[in-house]
Amino acid sequence: MLKINNLSKSYNRGAIKAVDHLNLHVKPGEIFGFLGPNGAGKTTTIKMIVGLLNPDEGSIIVNGYDNQKNPIEAKKSIGYVPDTPMVYDRLTGMEYLSFMADVYQVPSDQRKEKINYFLEMFDLTDAVNDLIKSYSHGMKQKIALAGALLHNPALWIMDEPMVGLDPKSSHLLKELMRQHCQKGNTVFFSTHILEVAERLCDRIGIIHRGKLIAVGTLDELRRGEQAETLENIFLELTEQ
Ligand SMILES: Nc1ncnc2c1ncn2[C@@H]1O[C@H](COP(=O)(O)OP(=O)(O)OP(=O)(O)O)[C@@H](O)[C@H]1O
Ligand SMILES: [Mg+2]
Repeated sequence: MLKINNLSKSYNRGAIKAVDHLNLHVKPGEIFGFLGPNGAGKTTTIKMIVGLLNPDEGSIIVNGYDNQKNPIEAKKSIGYVPDTPMVYDRLTGMEYLSFMADVYQVPSDQRKEKINYFLEMFDLTDAVNDLIKSYSHGMKQKIALAGALLHNPALWIMDEPMVGLDPKSSHLLKELMRQHCQKGNTVFFSTHILEVAERLCDRIGIIHRGKLIAVGTLDELRRGEQAETLENIFLELTEQ
């Protein structure tokens, strides 16, 4: 579903190597957790997957499409939630969702039902006719989530999606992620909440200074030491 081949990206004319020859294959049906210290290269990788940044080197295949050669086809399969909700302040919630439904060509007979489904789930029904600039951070995050998922994309790409969500919304999102993958779809998300990664993810990757330094199931990362927590593994691997 998502194949990352030899991906590299640097900033400031090569002075900062943000992503360094990264290889990763995420399969259909998987929830993949992308972990790493601040500045490790998670957001840079995610922005290249969704086509917001061009790699210096390497390729990304989404649902069979190279995202540089066939960007539109690749993007149709992606639902992207950025690390800070980038929603248009001067639209109402409903205008924003209708706009997203237009962009992603959600058929008009399914639109209302889908929009209502997310509005009810995230307790946004009462706010939907207010301008987004009046929303709290969590409400913006939830309307961004709804907008990203309206077109039922096979691959969810989420950059720290639980940040700012209240316990109920965060619980619902985790449930949604599980259900999505149970249907054979794929979720790739970054997080700093190791307990969430531990409980939710089928596989975990740890990026450190642009390099993928570990990848596997929790058991594989433990290397036989059953009592090892993800926190310990993470701290040991990223200490050097
Ligand atoms: N626009 C930019 N210009 C210059 N350097 C950048 C830019 N964006 C990111 N970087 C640098 O690239 C490296 C990776 O940053 P990135 O945002 O990908 O990290 P991250 O893993 O998402 O971190 P965090 O956990 O804090 O979100 C860092 O050294 C950062 O300073
Ligand atoms: Mg980031």
